Formats: sequence, structure tokens, C-alpha cells
Amino acid sequence: MTTLSYDDVLLQPQYSDIRSRSEIDISTDLGNGLVLSTPIFSSPMDTVTEAAMSVSLGEAGACGIIHRYNTVFNQTALVSKAKNTSRNASMNVGGAIGITGDYLERASALIIAGATFLCIDVAHGHHVLMKDALAALREKYPDLHIMAGNVATLEAVNDLADWGADSVRCNIGGGSICSTRIQTGHGVPGLHTVLECAKTDRNVKIIADGGIRNSGDIVKALAAGADAVMCGSLFAGCTETPGEVFREQATGHTWKTYRGMASKEAQTDWKGNYSSLEGIASKVPYRGSVSVVLNNLRRGIRSGFSYTGARNLEELHAKAQFIEQTTSGLAESHPHIIGRPW
Ligand code: XMP
Repeated sequence: MTTLSYDDVLLQPQYSDIRSRSEIDISTDLGNGLVLSTPIFSSPMDTVTEAAMSVSLGEAGACGIIHRYNTVFNQTALVSKAKNTSRNASMNVGGAIGITGDYLERASALIIAGATFLCIDVAHGHHVLMKDALAALREKYPDLHIMAGNVATLEAVNDLADWGADSVRCNIGGGSICSTRIQTGHGVPGLHTVLECAKTDRNVKIIADGGIRNSGDIVKALAAGADAVMCGSLFAGCTETPGEVFREQATGHTWKTYRGMASKEAQTDWKGNYSSLEGIASKVPYRGSVSVVLNNLRRGIRSGFSYTGARNLEELHAKAQFIEQTTSGLAESHPHIIGRPW
């Protein structure tokens, strides 16, 4: 079966009667009280989202999810810090939890600290332990938005919805720092995952997670049926991520560390040892403030909606038309003057 990913497709431009991009609404209603004016989450990873990232994104109408790779005390302190330092009392901030051990205690502490929703964050979400965790959490918190994942199939999305999830993170092994597909042979290309998962007839929202490199990929993910996207590498080089900026002596370039949560380095830091290695540790160029990065993404998304003639997400879902592109098409899609043999 042919399965497509982001670089294999383009969206066909369509007639537009939108006179100004200010008419375009890119907000998303994810259900159970979680509404974002910008449909972007930052990944719950220890080199991406702690308090500073959550405040900057949350105040701008996007959303951070504070990672769980620490003690309950430390994670709740990060949530409290985000809520205390924010100028917007109703700002959304998510708290990530697992599906074993202290997850119920963690969930309760996060909610007391001010988390506005929970994200059940595991590598293989279509799992009996996820079923048990969702049952326990849903019984305790009937009116709280619960995001769950990750999964890669329609069947999994339907199951997680039936078990109580409001939204589901879709994509296994497609992130920039992932090696799950190489290590385990399992996964589904990212765009195909979204196209399949969005066929759900359940009342559940789709979060396209991982492999998103620019605003064009965000527009493609939303057009494929996602209700929001989740990004790690796009934000990892920003000032607001945990960790220091470091300068490379030889080149003078500045970088920040970005690592998969299943990398040897991350696992060793948070649990003192490592099991299956399904991610890598790397570095990304330092990019300055996340507000600049987010503004550029938003401009690109609005422009993308306008090329399809869509005033909002509902219209984008209904109108979007994908076409496949060849490798020559992909080469043509990138700026290609450099290296041209004149
Ligand atoms: P991007 O492409 O935005 O991807 O950098 C971020 C997403 O990658 C997932 N993630 C992992 N997946 N091994 C994996 O297979 C890992 O070590 C790992 N760490 C993060 C996660 O879904 C995140 O949002």
C-alpha cells in the first residue's frame, strides 16, 4: 500500500473570496473546554516544555504541555510557576502523565497546581494500560479535557475515544529525533497517519504530532484532518526551552540541545538507566524568542488557509485538495537557485 508523508504532497491552490487574511480564523475547539486561538502544542519533552515555554505559548493562544520526566513535586512546581507568572489567568497549560506508577497522584497534583488539561503521554498508546488509565481518569475527572497517545491507526483512535480520550496524538516514530521505526520496524508515515485517523466517526479530536518542520507542514496536517499540531523541533532552539545556549568554537554558531525522550541521554537523566533506545540526542540552531517563531508560523498558516479559500478549520477540512508530487516537484518546491549549473 502507498502511504504518503508531508513531502509527498502539496495542496492545490483554489479560488478564494477572502479579501483580507484578517478574516481567517485559525482557532480550534478541542472539546471539554480546551479552545486554542492558535492550533499548536509544544511537545511534553524535557528539552522543549517547562514554565517559560508554557507561558509564552499560552499567552499567545497556543499551548505548552509540561513534561513528566521529573518528580511530581518538580512538575507541579513548573505548572504553578507557569500559572503564577502568566498575565492571563485563563491561560491553558497541560500536564503530561504516564499510565503506571504515580500517574493518578501526579494527575491530581497537576490539576491542583492549575493544569487545565492532562496529556497521557506514552510511546505506544493503543495499549491495555492506556485503557485502564483512561477509565480511572475519566471516572475521577468527567469534565476535564484528556489528551492521549501516541497512536498510528484509525482503530486506535476509535478505541482511545471509546475509552474516554477527548483528543489523540497521532504518529508513531515520525518525530525528528525518533528512531522507533528503525529500532522496532513499526510506524506509519505521518501524513498518512493523520489522513487515516481523521476518518474517525467518534467525537474525538486529532493532534498531528511529530515530523512537522515548517508552517507548510502544519497547513498540510490540518488540511489532512488534524484539529491541531504538536511540535518539538520547531520550538527546541528557542530561548524559552530548558537548557543553555552553547557556542561552537570552530564556527561560532549557537545551538541548544534537543533530544528524544527515549534517547539514551534522556532516559539516563530521568530514570538512571535505559531500556530500548528509540530516540536520539541532537542539537538545533538557537532561534531566539518563541514569540517570533510562533508569529512566523501563524502568518504561514493564515496564508495557507487563504490559498485553499478557507476562512476557518472547518472549511479547510472540507475544501482541501491534495495532489502528489514527484521528487522533481519536491526539488522545485524548495528554493533552488543555489547550486544551479548556469
Ligand atoms: P518533532 O518532529 O516535532 O517531533 O521534533 C516531536 C515528537 O516526537 C515524539 N518523541 C519521540 N518519539 N522516540 C520517538 O519515537 C523518542 O525518543 C521521542 N521523543 C519524542 C513525540 O511525539 C514528540 O511530540
